[in-house]
Amino acid sequence: MARKALITGITGQDGSYLAEHLLSLGYEVHGLIRRNSITENQQSRLDNISKHIHNEYGDVSDVSTIDRVMMRVKPDEVYNLAAQSHVRISFDVPQYTVQTNALGALNVLESVRSHAPEAHFYQASSSEMFGNSVDPDGKQRETTKMSPVSPYGCAKLFAYSIVRNYRHSYKLFASNGILFNHESPRRASNFVTSKIIKNAVLISQGKLDKLELGNLDSQRDWGHSKDYVRAMHLILQHHEPDDFVISTGQTHSIREFCEIVFKKLGLDYTKYVVQNPKYMRPEELRYLCGDCSKAKKVLNWSPHYTFDSMIDEMIGQWTVK
Ligand code: GDD
Repeated sequence: MARKALITGITGQDGSYLAEHLLSLGYEVHGLIRRNSITENQQSRLDNISKHIHNEYGDVSDVSTIDRVMMRVKPDEVYNLAAQSHVRISFDVPQYTVQTNALGALNVLESVRSHAPEAHFYQASSSEMFGNSVDPDGKQRETTKMSPVSPYGCAKLFAYSIVRNYRHSYKLFASNGILFNHESPRRASNFVTSKIIKNAVLISQGKLDKLELGNLDSQRDWGHSKDYVRAMHLILQHHEPDDFVISTGQTHSIREFCEIVFKKLGLDYTKYVVQNPKYMRPEELRYLCGDCSKAKKVLNWSPHYTFDSMIDEMIGQWTVK
């Protein structure tokens, strides 16, 4: 019998790649999707595979729906990817962010405990939980102090902690993937990589003359979503539940990212990029660079994409639009 996976947040960048990956491995894939007032494009990331997956309307804040789906599907694996995923927006909607990212995770975990206690549970934890803590060698790893600097990071830290608590208290197979930033052609254009690439392409086509950004000095460790969803699956195949950092170990500033992308398009970014305080955050996470040696050693995971091949793929996608 095919193994059954339930993915919350299946319409997102990671959810859609994960669904494709699990289908390719022979899984029966079930997804929870939120109703949206604009139907068009709501599930566009799933266009290629919509016939092969089983989707239900639901929301991680709606306990009765989650319970019903959990009881009916009885999944072998549950991936909790549903979230308000934008860090700056979490300052505008802190309570909604906490309800979804913190209490939503608890709701799904409780439902697993009650209705599918044998299931392996994956929580989409985030490098945003580290805030501005860094180990003396300039890396963040599983043991680095967590000290979040945004409502998003605080909510994710609650979810991470309750997963560990349920693992120890109830012996659930509940694991955290601590994922550093990960991008792809499916990344929404209000995240900085897609925003820079989309607008640099428009500038190169003469359709725009400037790009407004916030903080250019923060640094991020950017990988590719497709590589990172493979890690999510491996985390749940490990012989015991555990927590893993997933990253590339390389870091670049937003300014460097602009320089590289504009250069690939034959342009000098300094002529087009301007700062607008509107895109600054009340508190900024300044630097991320993850050490994923545990995942490499224990899960035998490593990324296939390079920083360069990821950018090239994203430029290709925005160029054809
Ligand atoms: N979005 C955005 N828009 N960010 C900007 C801009 C802008 O115009 N200008 C500068 N930045 C800077 C932000 O201040 C931040 O330092 C950096 O670019 C990256 O911002 P995002 O792409 O929005 O990602 P993030 O790092 O805040 O959060 C992402 O990574 C987390 C993992 O560390 C998201 O994917 C989170 O969901 C994820 O958990």
